[in-house]
Amino acid sequence: MSNDEFFDIKKDWSTIKDRLLRSYLMPYFTKILATKKPVRYIDCFAGAGRFKDGTLGSPLIAYEAAVEALEISKNNDNVLKLYFIEKDKNNFKSLVSNFENKNNNIIGDFFNDSFETTIVDIVNRFGNVNLFLYIDPYGVISLNKSILEKLNLQKLNTVELFINFNANGLFRTCCLALKKHLPKDIHFSGCDDFVEDKMIGSDGLINRINGILDGVEWQEIVSEKYSQSINYKIVEEELLHLYKKFLNKYFEYVIPIPIKMNSDICKYYMVYATNHPDGAVLMGSTMCNAKAINSNIYYPDSLFSFEDLDPEITRANLIELLKEYSGIHLNKLIGFYYDKYGLSCNVKDVLKQMEGDGKILVTRYPAFFKNTNKKSKSWTENANQKVLIGLNK
Ligand SMILES: C[S@@+](CC[C@H](N)C(=O)[O-])C[C@H]1O[C@@H](n2cnc3c(N)ncnc32)[C@H](O)[C@@H]1O
Repeated sequence: MSNDEFFDIKKDWSTIKDRLLRSYLMPYFTKILATKKPVRYIDCFAGAGRFKDGTLGSPLIAYEAAVEALEISKNNDNVLKLYFIEKDKNNFKSLVSNFENKNNNIIGDFFNDSFETTIVDIVNRFGNVNLFLYIDPYGVISLNKSILEKLNLQKLNTVELFINFNANGLFRTCCLALKKHLPKDIHFSGCDDFVEDKMIGSDGLINRINGILDGVEWQEIVSEKYSQSINYKIVEEELLHLYKKFLNKYFEYVIPIPIKMNSDICKYYMVYATNHPDGAVLMGSTMCNAKAINSNIYYPDSLFSFEDLDPEITRANLIELLKEYSGIHLNKLIGFYYDKYGLSCNVKDVLKQMEGDGKILVTRYPAFFKNTNKKSKSWTENANQKVLIGLNK
C-alpha cells in the first residue's frame, strides 16, 4: 500500500483508532476547558483530513469534537486551537481544502513539514497551555527520543500524548536493521507501517531504532527470538516495554492499550501518556466503555485484546500499590494501577468490594451530600469531591 492508496478507503483498524480518538477527545476537551487555560491540540501526522470514501480523518474528527465541546462548555472559541502537521504535499493540499469554510477561530495553523523538524518549535512557543499530541505515523521510525527531550514540558499546564505504536511493525523494522529474515511463524500483512517500508532504507537503521527505544537493549531481545525461538508475543511486549520505560522518564502514567484486528492481521498499541491522574482515569473509562460497546457490536472478540484481570488478581495488585502509597487519592491510585499492571476495567468494582469487606479505609471530602445530608459513598474524584484510600490495618 502506498501513501496515496492509504486515503482511498478507511481500513477497519483506522476506523477503530478514530473511534477511540473521538471517544476520548469529546470528554477531554469538555473537561480541560474548565481549567480556563488555553488548549492546544496537535495532530502530528495529520494526513488528508478526509478519506476518498468520504469518511472523516483524524483532523476533522478533532475539529468536530472541538466544536461540540466549545458549545457545551460555552467557552470562547479562541481558547482552543487545533494544529496540523503533514509532510506529504498532496495530502497537505487535501487537508487544507478540507478545512475551507470551517471556523477559523478554532484552527491554529497547518504545517506542510515533517513532525521531526517542526514539533519542537511549535510546542516551545506555547506558554502555560494544556497540550494534546496525537501521533499517528505509519510505523515507528519518526518516534525519536530526542524530540521529547527537546520539548519544554515543564512550562505547560498539562500534557497528553496519544501514540499509535506499531509494535508488530517495529519488530519487522528491527529484523530489517539486524539483517534477519522475518520469522515464518509470524503473519505480517495489512498494517499501515508497510507504507513506511518504502520510505526508509536499512542504512543507519540500528541507530534510528536505538533512538526510538532509548538504547541498545532491543538488539538482544530481537536476536534472542532467533537463538531460542522465544514466543513472538513476548518479544513484542518487551519492545513495547522499552518504549514505555522511556516515556515513563517524562510521564507518570503510561498506558498501552493493545488493539488487534482479526487474529494477527494487524496489531498495534495506542499508547497514552500523561502526568495527570484525571486524564489517566478518563482514558481508562473511555476505553472500557468503547470495549463494552464495540466488542459486542462491531468486531466480536477482535477489537481490544486487553482482558480484565481476575478480580482476585486485581485485588492483590491494589494491595501491593496501597502498601506503597497509603492514603492515596483515588485517581492517582487508578492511574498508577493502569501504568503498572495495564488497563483493566474492574478496578473500581474491586475497590468497592474491598471497602465493603473492610480491607480499605475510604475517606471522602465532603463526607456528606449537601442537599440530603446523607453519607457520601462516591467513587468519583474531581474538583468538588476527593476520595482518599488507605489499607485498613
Ligand atoms: C497513518 S497516516 C495519518 C492518518 C490520519 N491520522 C487520519 O486518521 O486521517 C500518516 C500520515 O503521516 C504523513 N507523514 C509521514 N511521515 C511524516 C512525517 N515525518 N511528518 C509528518 N507527516 C508524515 C503521511 O503522509 C500520512 O499522511
